[in-house]
Amino acid sequence: MSQSLKFYSFIFCLSLILSSIQTFAQKLSAYDLTIDMLDNPLNIDNAKPGFSWKINSNKKNTYQTRYDIRVSNTPSFKKIIWQQSNANQQSVFVRYNGEKLASKTKYFWQVRLKDNHGNTSAWSEIKYFQTGLKPEDWQAKWITVQGKDTSSIIPFLRKQFALKKDVKSATAYITAKGLYEANLNGARISSDYFTPGWTSYKNHIQYQAYPITTLKKGQNVIAVSLGDGWYKGRIGFSNQSKFYGDTRALLLQIDVEYTDGTKEIVISDDSWKSTNGPILASNIYDGETYDARKELNGWDNLGYKESDNWKQVRILENGPEKLVGMSGPAVNKHEEFKALKIFKTPLGETIIDFGQNMVGWVKVTANGNSGTKITLSHAEVLDKNGNFYTTNLRSAKQQNNYILKGKGTEIFEPHFSFQGFRFVKVDGYPGELKLENFTAIAVYSSMSPTGNFTTSNPLLNQLQHNIQWGQKGNFVDVPTDCPQRDERLGWTGDAQAFANTAAYNMDVSSFFTKWLKDVSADQLPNGSVPYVIPNVLNQSDAGSAGWADAATIIPWSMYQSYGDKNILETQYQSMQKWVDYMASQAKDNLWNTGSHFGDWLFYRPNDDNDGRAAVTDKYMIAQTFYANSVQLLINTSKVLGKTEEVKKYTALLNNVKKAYVQEYMTPSGKLVSNTQTAYVLALQFDMLPENLRQQAAKRLVDNVKSYGNHLTTGFLGTPYLCHVLSRFGYQDVSYNLLLQESYPSWLYPVKMGATTIWERWDGIKQDGSFQTADMNSFNHYAYGAIGDWMYKNIAGICSIEENPGYKVFEIAPKPGGKLTSATGELETVYGKIKSSWEIANGVFKLNVTVPVNATAIVTLPGKDKKEKIGSGSYSFESKYKY
Ligand code: BGC
Repeated sequence: MSQSLKFYSFIFCLSLILSSIQTFAQKLSAYDLTIDMLDNPLNIDNAKPGFSWKINSNKKNTYQTRYDIRVSNTPSFKKIIWQQSNANQQSVFVRYNGEKLASKTKYFWQVRLKDNHGNTSAWSEIKYFQTGLKPEDWQAKWITVQGKDTSSIIPFLRKQFALKKDVKSATAYITAKGLYEANLNGARISSDYFTPGWTSYKNHIQYQAYPITTLKKGQNVIAVSLGDGWYKGRIGFSNQSKFYGDTRALLLQIDVEYTDGTKEIVISDDSWKSTNGPILASNIYDGETYDARKELNGWDNLGYKESDNWKQVRILENGPEKLVGMSGPAVNKHEEFKALKIFKTPLGETIIDFGQNMVGWVKVTANGNSGTKITLSHAEVLDKNGNFYTTNLRSAKQQNNYILKGKGTEIFEPHFSFQGFRFVKVDGYPGELKLENFTAIAVYSSMSPTGNFTTSNPLLNQLQHNIQWGQKGNFVDVPTDCPQRDERLGWTGDAQAFANTAAYNMDVSSFFTKWLKDVSADQLPNGSVPYVIPNVLNQSDAGSAGWADAATIIPWSMYQSYGDKNILETQYQSMQKWVDYMASQAKDNLWNTGSHFGDWLFYRPNDDNDGRAAVTDKYMIAQTFYANSVQLLINTSKVLGKTEEVKKYTALLNNVKKAYVQEYMTPSGKLVSNTQTAYVLALQFDMLPENLRQQAAKRLVDNVKSYGNHLTTGFLGTPYLCHVLSRFGYQDVSYNLLLQESYPSWLYPVKMGATTIWERWDGIKQDGSFQTADMNSFNHYAYGAIGDWMYKNIAGICSIEENPGYKVFEIAPKPGGKLTSATGELETVYGKIKSSWEIANGVFKLNVTVPVNATAIVTLPGKDKKEKIGSGSYSFESKYKY
């Protein structure tokens, strides 16, 4: 070995030793520090934001025994704004409790911990949050085009401005009536889409805050285009547009701090100019038409000369709506899909298959003559003859048109529209179609993935895949029913059915926190909750059982998943108003008025001669959801220490249940509607006297068997079906249903090639024909609610009601269905939980990982013994045979 080689290997060994000493020394540390579950957020409006952190330790059974937290307005922590120390285990949602936070101010924070093994961590990395604007901080004016805003063309607005000095930092605060895309000095300000997001605009409009690093001393250009979006574009299925207003407008303010500490503000005002750009039309349902010949080359940068077509903008009066900082995740681009194949259909259409039903758009690259028009139409499925099928989109065109300018290679993507599709029909493409010129891009709210789930059964794995893609496609700023037809609305029933599953798959905490604010905002004065949120239907379209209950079910579900009481505090009034509304409608505690969707899309055979349609009395369903909402309000009141309310609503609950039994049950426990959903809801919500529950479960099982181990449930019964069967000892029946491959079942669509969850159990029939086109979405997440059961039963990862957020949780896998292995993972607010098992040679082997500061209670299949374990990884074994 040469001298120098010796020297380098010595250095290498030394650095290895040093780094292992360092790792060894770092016995305890905090990581993943968040504020209200957000990473370094820039527009915190909350007066008492919640600090959370996760903990790393190299020892098993580690608990935090003390934390020190400190907040400062400088990263050096010279001046402490707030500090708190507590000798307890709280590591999530520690609420800020210092002096009032100033607006548009950056605060830095960090934590230090002690654990039960006597270790003390170093101060954590420094994180920050920035507070949002107070109303009086807004100096910007709402601006729009000259004259009436009647054109479908997307207006472009721009302003060139000079900064006098070197810039230290800058933040842009932007919002719009409609949608905006903002560029600074030739580049997009952020990678977010569909900003400012969809809210109950008449009540509040979100603004975004973006750090700006490309501002320079001297000249700069800010340039913004304004889309119709949900605000002005077509929304709702009655061909309505301009629901919130007929004028697209921009509100923008850039707060600049110079290196010498002085400040400047750049605002939207009447010094801006606007003109028409190349986007001739763009709306959510119909797609976009883009004429590249009309591009304004360089309009968003310096050096552009404004022609006479640029007109001074017009100032709009402030509306009554409040401006609020964005609280949910932004919509961004995610997975990209290469075109899988290009083919011709029997009708001669040219189709590209991307292999996955998704939501987003197709990026297309082309080279051709000026004026050539490429049309991309989007569809979820092909019909039974293999032709392109769009009838189920109803009136939504889902079509993007690109007109080439004819100068070299051109690349197109839409700006203010998204499509739900797997297949794209291409018309007018110049030259040979090549796979590499088409890329599909999935676009959805950026919720970090938290859960995953695999088993030894590939069909179940595909089902899980379909559930996750149903979630991606329908969590586009608000939880929608579907992403493709002329609907795409925040249907409350669908959202409540799927919320638990959603919280396993992804971090949906801030997504639902944002949406629940709209539930409160759009709730009617009498307490009734609209069918869709934000509500773009009639005011009277409200109060359906199982839909309106999103107001109580989702806050409770979020509290269970993340353990933040704040969501209960914020939503309490809305929850209570909904319960009081039902009470006000009920006579003698029986709620049997109003219109209800009932067990939507339940099993209904074509030929119902033998009365096999699973019709469940709608008022009977309403009474069970009424009881459930009262129960959730009682639970919430307990958590919030509202003893009077606990008393009041407990009395109400007893009466609601009594009224149910009297009206809908025979003395021997038979229900008026002899359906699966009737028994499922009665059992799930504890409607029946205890001594009659087991027999009711038996009736449910008999019913399932009478359909040859098929489910017959719709939107309301399905989420609870397997839970109820498992709870009453019929795990085998749950598995039979789960693994059923023929219609109606979860795996039937999987066998038919589905890549997302269908709206109907038989969206595509066995013979390849379709269900009725006016309601047949192939991307509807509601039936994906089985995901909750799969995580809880197959992987066995369950939260415990009294210990929300998985502070203490259960690992209790219940194998069945001849599965030989399964692995479930869940990133919780404490860190990652893992439960992984296999069965081989009559032995069940389980590996469990528990995050620091949390406790798992492990139960092996078929055993009663419960074992409590702290953080770390553990293995268990027991004899097991199918
Ligand atoms: C939606 C559903 C929704 C239902 C109400 C449909 O048009 O797509 O998912 O819950 O209406 O019954």
